[in-house]
Amino acid sequence: MIDQIDFNDENSNTSANPSFDSVLQARLSRRGLLRGSVGTVGTAMLGGLGVAACGDVAAAPAATLLGFSAVAKSLADTVTVPAGYTASVIYALGDPLTATTPAYKNDGTDTDFENRAGDHHDGMEWFGLDASGKPSTSAIERGLLAVNHEATTDETLTSFFIHANGGTATLPRPAVEVDKEIAIHGISVVEVKKTSGKWATVQSSAFNFRLTPLSDIELAGPARGNALLVTKYSTSGTRTRGTLNNCGTGKTPWGSFLTGEENWAGYFFRNSTDDTARNNDKSVTALKRYGRNQGAASRHGWQTGGTADKYARWDNSKLGTSTDGSDDYRNELNTMGYIVEIDAYDKTRTAKKRTAMGRYAHESASFSVPAVGKPLAVYMGDDARNEYIYKFVSAANWDAADASPISAMATGDKYLDSGKLYVAKYNNDGSGLWLELSISNPTIASYGGYVFADQADVCVNARIAADAVGATKMDRPEWSGVNPANGEVYFTLTNNSNRRVEPASASQLAPDSPNPRVYTDMKSATAQNGNPNGHILRMKEGAAGSAATSFTWDVYAFGAQTDADAAKVNWSNLTGDQDFSSPDGLVFSPYTGIMWIQTDDGAYTDVTNSMMLAAQPGQVGDGGKKTLSYTKTDGSTLSVDTYVGKAPTANTLKRFLVGAKDCEITGLCETPDGKAMFINIQHPGEGTKMADIADPTKYTSQWPSNAGYGAGKRPRTATIVITKNDGGKIGT
Ligand code: FEO
Ligand code: CA
Ligand code: CA
Ligand code: CA
Repeated sequence: MIDQIDFNDENSNTSANPSFDSVLQARLSRRGLLRGSVGTVGTAMLGGLGVAACGDVAAAPAATLLGFSAVAKSLADTVTVPAGYTASVIYALGDPLTATTPAYKNDGTDTDFENRAGDHHDGMEWFGLDASGKPSTSAIERGLLAVNHEATTDETLTSFFIHANGGTATLPRPAVEVDKEIAIHGISVVEVKKTSGKWATVQSSAFNFRLTPLSDIELAGPARGNALLVTKYSTSGTRTRGTLNNCGTGKTPWGSFLTGEENWAGYFFRNSTDDTARNNDKSVTALKRYGRNQGAASRHGWQTGGTADKYARWDNSKLGTSTDGSDDYRNELNTMGYIVEIDAYDKTRTAKKRTAMGRYAHESASFSVPAVGKPLAVYMGDDARNEYIYKFVSAANWDAADASPISAMATGDKYLDSGKLYVAKYNNDGSGLWLELSISNPTIASYGGYVFADQADVCVNARIAADAVGATKMDRPEWSGVNPANGEVYFTLTNNSNRRVEPASASQLAPDSPNPRVYTDMKSATAQNGNPNGHILRMKEGAAGSAATSFTWDVYAFGAQTDADAAKVNWSNLTGDQDFSSPDGLVFSPYTGIMWIQTDDGAYTDVTNSMMLAAQPGQVGDGGKKTLSYTKTDGSTLSVDTYVGKAPTANTLKRFLVGAKDCEITGLCETPDGKAMFINIQHPGEGTKMADIADPTKYTSQWPSNAGYGAGKRPRTATIVITKNDGGKIGT
């Protein structure tokens, strides 16, 4: 869409594992054992997990679910919801967060973004407040929204919509532009309130705050204080500045906010001689594995903003003379890429990066259904082509007394700083294994590709440890979600342009069981190859539930356009009311049981803007095995076994919303009566050319000003609230 390097499309996993054959061999050797355990899974899990969830879900009789008329695909520059629903914009880029911050002019002259909404709202969670302003799990008319501000609409370095003339597209970048761009990243917390039936933010609320890439944050867990985290900013390796490229979210069972740092690597810079300066030591191996080659351009060139330390930190070259990195920012990249825990209710509490959960391109963090006396599992994806799916299992067992939202950060220390980190390996018989990433595993300790020093090194370089154990490379794992009714875990796999029947390079992969499709989809006259429309995988844990080291899996649904070949592409038989591409956000409503699917698409956007669908999914194993045959150029056949869930019906999957032009739909939270839903319309108009900044008629979107919200015509990412006109639950 935009003519530049795509910093959101990283592809650094050229590790040798696993070939299709090695997956097959592992499967053959373990088949009997796993099949033996699978039969007991259903009853064990339901017994352990079902009680609390059923109480919540029972409030909405299943027959009333998805009782709305499907929304048609659309290319209109508007947000469309079903008849009987209303969507209202409440919180857009630049909106003020203090009483004294001026209204957003939206002409590129606004400043003071530390006191305004950031850009590209992504994941989002709800934190209720009672009438007296105390944390509440039942409040339905007042609360806080904690919002990720992932990135910004940019072209050739500059975030052009926030600068008057589009900004400076050459290096060095002016400090005044860099300061604004840095401040629109991070997270915001904003109070929202319903008054006389209408939702709005509370501009003067004392709860409001921002965290930006310059905020002081603590490093917690196994890597805290490790040599890998020593920087000039924190010579003890215990703190860092800021959080960056915040994408998916999570909400802990104890009421804190989790934010995932996703495509952070591209913001940093290493000079063209840095590999030599580092003596080509193992840090170079790690930097390359995380997508930072020496000499590669940084996304915004923030390191050129001036000599001050806040600009210098974006240059990760080895520049100092110290042996430990305490005099430069050579280790700075090791302080990004975590799940960060934040107390949304209390801005005075320092946020913590939970290093035990591993460092990679984090998307969301979804919890297993808490069961008293059992550990908590947290499911997480690494969103880059050919990356992995992870699970963290807490060392501490869940204590229902911790469900209180008070002292959230201390409770986070208890559950998120010690535990086991696993990576998923999928076998082609529908089973799978969680492989522990532990320094005591000889396969990791003696890995030839990288010498791990300790468990901190394993957490910081989790991708490399996952390479070592032979995890399965996936089609870009995005959000995960746990079905509260049965504990099954869903992962969106958004797409992968690097699947090929006959891989031609180390970055290409043959189709395999969990990523079985390779096809060509036409977008107007452009051929899109690999798995352009993505799919949604789901997993059922073994008998040990959250602590299980084996699981079964199938594919809930494959994205496709409805008229695609049903034998080769549209395997889930999606109708015109259901067809979607590039699933990304995935959230189960605890109040209705509906699974909401959101798309961030570029493949089907010749036909429709990105969308949100409501689903009533079945369960792992409700469909069947499918064997695919691909013909190679030499005439031989590649056969792939996969498992496809029962095709959705008109009553179990339905399009609920279509967004504005060029947007992504992301983030979802609700009031605890299920009657107000908040979602984000991210980057409308991102296909606009910077050269057209002075001519609003050439913007590809003018949303939300064309919906009557705010000044100016420049498109703005925004939060909307959706309500049902009859006051009912959303999606019923
Ligand atoms: Fe920020 Fe993977 O989406
Ligand atoms: Ca197409
Ligand atoms: Ca995403
Ligand atoms: Ca996006």
